[in-house]
Amino acid sequence: MVNWRWLLRMSNRSFLAFVFFFCLSFTCLYFIYVAPGLANTYYFMVQARGIMLRDNVRTIGHMLRLYTNKNSTVNGTDYPDGSNSSEYMVQPTLYLPENFTYAQNLPCPERLPSMKGSMEVNMTEIPLEELEVKFSMMYGVKFGGHWKPKDCRPRWKVAILIPFRNRHEHLPILFQHLIPMLQRQRLQFAFYVIEQSGTQPFNRAMLFNVGFVEAMKDLDWDCFIFHDVDHIPENDRNYYGCGQMPRHFAAKLDKYMYILPYNEFFGGVSGLTAEQFRKINGFPNAFWGWGGEDDDLWNRVHYAGFNVTRPEGEIGRYQSIPHHHRGEVQFLGRYKLLRYSKERQHLDGLNNLHYNPLVSLSSLYKNVTVDLSPELAPITDY
Ligand SMILES: *[C@@H]1O[C@H](CO)[C@@H](O)[C@H](O)[C@H]1NC(C)=O
Ligand SMILES: *[C@@H]1O[C@H](CO)[C@@H](O)[C@H](O)[C@H]1NC(C)=O
Ligand SMILES: *[C@@H]1O[C@H](CO)[C@@H](O)[C@H](O)[C@H]1NC(C)=O
Ligand SMILES: *[C@@H]1O[C@H](CO)[C@@H](O)[C@H](O)[C@H]1NC(C)=O
Ligand SMILES: *[C@@H]1O[C@H](CO)[C@@H](O)[C@H](O)[C@H]1NC(C)=O
Ligand SMILES: *[C@@H]1O[C@H](CO)[C@@H](O)[C@H](O)[C@H]1NC(C)=O
Ligand SMILES: *[C@@H]1O[C@H](CO)[C@@H](O)[C@H](O)[C@H]1NC(C)=O
Repeated sequence: MVNWRWLLRMSNRSFLAFVFFFCLSFTCLYFIYVAPGLANTYYFMVQARGIMLRDNVRTIGHMLRLYTNKNSTVNGTDYPDGSNSSEYMVQPTLYLPENFTYAQNLPCPERLPSMKGSMEVNMTEIPLEELEVKFSMMYGVKFGGHWKPKDCRPRWKVAILIPFRNRHEHLPILFQHLIPMLQRQRLQFAFYVIEQSGTQPFNRAMLFNVGFVEAMKDLDWDCFIFHDVDHIPENDRNYYGCGQMPRHFAAKLDKYMYILPYNEFFGGVSGLTAEQFRKINGFPNAFWGWGGEDDDLWNRVHYAGFNVTRPEGEIGRYQSIPHHHRGEVQFLGRYKLLRYSKERQHLDGLNNLHYNPLVSLSSLYKNVTVDLSPELAPITDY
């Protein structure tokens, strides 16, 4: 009788233990696979190979110094990556005066008087139809989202590639901010929304490769901007042209408290010339799910002998449209793949890319829809 009671108590206890461990492991799995919001962001910032505490401390120190010493306001200048903080204090860059006159046969300048700096960001959701009317009637945007300046020769022909899945409410917000900004920068541009259909994990990088090949069929673009749909620039002096070096535009995100999470961070919005993109064999195709592909691109760019430039100061600020990584799984194999960045660079990318696109034109963008799967870009396992 006593024995039996003791046994019951035991099994009760182990049952509780079982429930406890079950819940614990379930919670862990939840955070690893679903991981909405905070946990994910945190993971991202503390990415094993990326953590650069020293740099962050330096950045914070710099910000504190700026904050406490209001005299040293810094205006639009560029700095190369890995720059030393005294370079932050370089001379302010001049923008052309309001009365500057354009000439049709001369290239548009890069620092135009129409670029005023800080922009209002308005995250209100608006129907796409409303924007289509607005931009085609008042802003002269051609069907498919094409535009080019008439009063000078555009310095860059820029294709904006936007990887996409299930974010229909974000597109109009992005267009609402980008189109006026690009027009003020007098760049020739068009938008390509590359949508992944099917049920495979989201492959942001492969979508960019598809977008590159598809866009090149339309026009000889010389500059490509790889743009997340939920990143809204806050400053119109963030010039969306390319340069001698690949460029990381989204240097400061509100979700990372406007601090670069780590020095090698290359996510959000980046830009390469067509030539640079070909030289690095494009993005990798092997990253299925969320994370890592931007770090691989960073590696590719450096293995090809490039450095990355970033906009200085407030110019590189972005706000992200709030959302969760809705049903997007994290790519857990990314650290393993990243170890072989160099070996994969010439095997995986533009040169092993196959796909069957469904292309349609809508008034503000070209819609390239692809059903991706790993068999389309086969690569040996590492
Ligand atoms: C800021 O500038 C003013 C006037 O130029 C000067 O008097 C003051 O000492 C400066 N402050 C700092 C902290 O450098
Ligand atoms: C920086 O730009 C702002 C406006 O964009 C201007 O008011 C300010 O005087 C500039 N600061 C310097 C140091 O040029
Ligand atoms: C930082 O730059 C200054 C001058 O621009 C130079 O004298 C100094 O050696 C640099 N420091 C490092 C660590 O590169
Ligand atoms: C433009 O404005 C500046 C002052 O802002 C003035 O010095 C210059 O003469 C003006 N140029 C013309 C062509 O009006
Ligand atoms: C934001 O945009 C919406 C829709 O266009 C508009 O109704 C609203 O007034 C805007 N808000 C601000 C603060 O400009
Ligand atoms: C890139 O930066 C490194 C270190 O800052 C420098 O040694 C190298 O020459 C740079 N490469 C190019 C192509 O400018
Ligand atoms: C793109 O086209 C596909 C199929 O034609 C359609 O289902 C999808 O909604 C379109 N996406 C966008 C963002 O227009």
